[in-house]
Amino acid sequence: MRANHSHSFIAYSEKMRSLLDRVDKIASSDSFVLLVGETGVGKELFAEYIHRTSPRSLNPLVKVGLATIPKELLESELFGHEKGAFTSASNSKQGLFAVADTGTIFLDDVDDVSLSVQSKLLRVLESGKLMRVGGTEEIPINVRVVSASKVNLKTLVKNGTFRADLFYRLNVIPIEIPPLRDRPDDIPLLIDHFLKHFSPEREITISREALHAFMNYSWPGNVRELRNIIERIIVFADSEIKITALPDELQTHDPLEVMVQNCCNCIKNKEMSFEDVVSCLESNLIRKTLAETDGVISRAARNLKMNFSTLHYKMKKYDI
Ligand SMILES: Nc1ncnc2c1ncn2[C@@H]1O[C@H](COP(=O)(O)OP(=O)(O)O)[C@@H](O)[C@H]1O
Ligand SMILES: [Mg+2]
Repeated sequence: MRANHSHSFIAYSEKMRSLLDRVDKIASSDSFVLLVGETGVGKELFAEYIHRTSPRSLNPLVKVGLATIPKELLESELFGHEKGAFTSASNSKQGLFAVADTGTIFLDDVDDVSLSVQSKLLRVLESGKLMRVGGTEEIPINVRVVSASKVNLKTLVKNGTFRADLFYRLNVIPIEIPPLRDRPDDIPLLIDHFLKHFSPEREITISREALHAFMNYSWPGNVRELRNIIERIIVFADSEIKITALPDELQTHDPLEVMVQNCCNCIKNKEMSFEDVVSCLESNLIRKTLAETDGVISRAARNLKMNFSTLHYKMKKYDI
């Protein structure tokens, strides 16, 4: 585990440690960073860490939730506006880019930005100058951009909903943060961390069975979900957290549910197509059954309740 400054950043798994090492290597650089990962994986935490370890650390870090600002206000929020630029603009106002001058701006949910704001963003980033809404003067700015996206922006570029030139501009240093389910070794330390965080005065432990449930859950909401669950159960917890104290979704061990969830995750995260996931499932079922029958196809066909020629055909199809 690594604790940096007063902020604790749990990074025990190999995957997270190598990411942090990469981030440490670029600490002195001024390059733009694009953080990609599902909701709750720690993108904002990474952005803070990047700023804190950079030469800009004493200058401002401005966080902008692009998905939370109403569309019609976004441009003036980002770049500022002059008095009278629109009906409610009774005064001139500086934008968030100007507030972040000499520091870092964190553009969260950059995948949600409209094409028109994308063009304006690109112009500012390319020229290093911005123009307030309703303004006539170009104002020079010096900001480092760390942006975050829930989805792979390349896919959006392919769909035509994200400008390729802006993507290349933002994606100088790409950092992909893996979902929690792909780094279960972080789970025990995160539990410990949040137990101490939410209950610093009481020593609370977790039963083996409950820990097992935490390790086997798919964590669609990632670290944020884990944090919220700990915060919730700690209120009623005795000195040891038992499995019965956990929310229903952690207690269900329905294998079908687990399998379907994993397949959904493959579509979502590995960007496999529906057909690929179905093929993956089929070929794995066949491989596993053949392993159990020592490669005897007729027995495998019987176990799979499939006729011989169908199995033979599928084995050829999947090159088994
Ligand atoms: N590696 C980690 N160690 C400690 N806390 C973490 C870690 N990753 C995420 N968190 C916590 O989980 C919550 C969600 O993280 P956040 O950075 O907001 O995720 P995202 O921006 O990807 O949605 C925050 O409370 C954050 O402090
Ligand atoms: Mg976030």
